[in-house]
Amino acid sequence: MPQSLTIVDTINALRKDIKALKASSKTIGLVPTMGALHQGHLSLIEFAKQKCDIVVCSIFVNPKQFGQNEDLSSYPRPLQDDIDALERIGADIAFTPHVKEIYPKGFQTNVSVKQLSQCLCGASRPDHFDGVATIVSKLLLICQPDIAIFGEKDFQQLLIIKTLVKDLNIETQILGSPIIREVDGLALSSRNQYLSNEERKIAPHLYATMQQVAQTLKQSTSIAEHLKQAKKTLIDHGFEIDYLELRHSEDLTPITNLTEQSSDRARLFAAVKLGQTRLIDNIPF
Ligand code: PAF
Repeated sequence: MPQSLTIVDTINALRKDIKALKASSKTIGLVPTMGALHQGHLSLIEFAKQKCDIVVCSIFVNPKQFGQNEDLSSYPRPLQDDIDALERIGADIAFTPHVKEIYPKGFQTNVSVKQLSQCLCGASRPDHFDGVATIVSKLLLICQPDIAIFGEKDFQQLLIIKTLVKDLNIETQILGSPIIREVDGLALSSRNQYLSNEERKIAPHLYATMQQVAQTLKQSTSIAEHLKQAKKTLIDHGFEIDYLELRHSEDLTPITNLTEQSSDRARLFAAVKLGQTRLIDNIPF
């Protein structure tokens, strides 16, 4: 069993380490990330440490999940800081492959979880979730972990990954871990560092507005009207709205009418832009 952090950047080296660990009956937990690790990621690693003997954290900025006009080239890549953070928290293996290792010449496979990938973020980021599903499938097949942990901030992503694991009979248990927030309510995200000082002050209004509208909706039947009002509040704060929607948490189908049954399973989802920065959030009902 590794005593300190082992850094591997090839699939063969990772497979060899995993094979040896499994041969000595160690359980493996995988935390896939794109690096720029923050407290949210570290909470996933802590969670994995509680559940498994060995924690693998992958750091790979996956080009397939970025659209043409998105922030692939400017996405933060503070690799040494990430390695230091993984060492401090006691992760066992960092998997840091190069793009060519993951997508060699001739790569042409695409994993698509069709229906769940079309709504919410999928509507404005058409290829994003295929990119996520493809890389996560590869990471699960390479690492063959007992469990893999994903943050609930990307709730749609979490559902898509649970679905692909079920559909493809991958023997990994997928676990979600709650959103970690700043003290003012802003959900932690690697993209928060793009916010200017001014935008950073505005950003917590997203969560505050979502909480307010969730409270109001509990006592009202006019969902559309309250969501419209909340969107106006967000626009007045300076956000550009992609969506603010109430959906069922197990299949993301829209909720137009809140009954006692649907309110148990309801979740409020939002994506907005503040300047150039896209922020997403969701809250249970
Ligand atoms: O949530 C992320 O950071 C990424 O989408 C993931 C799951 C690591 C796949 O690249």
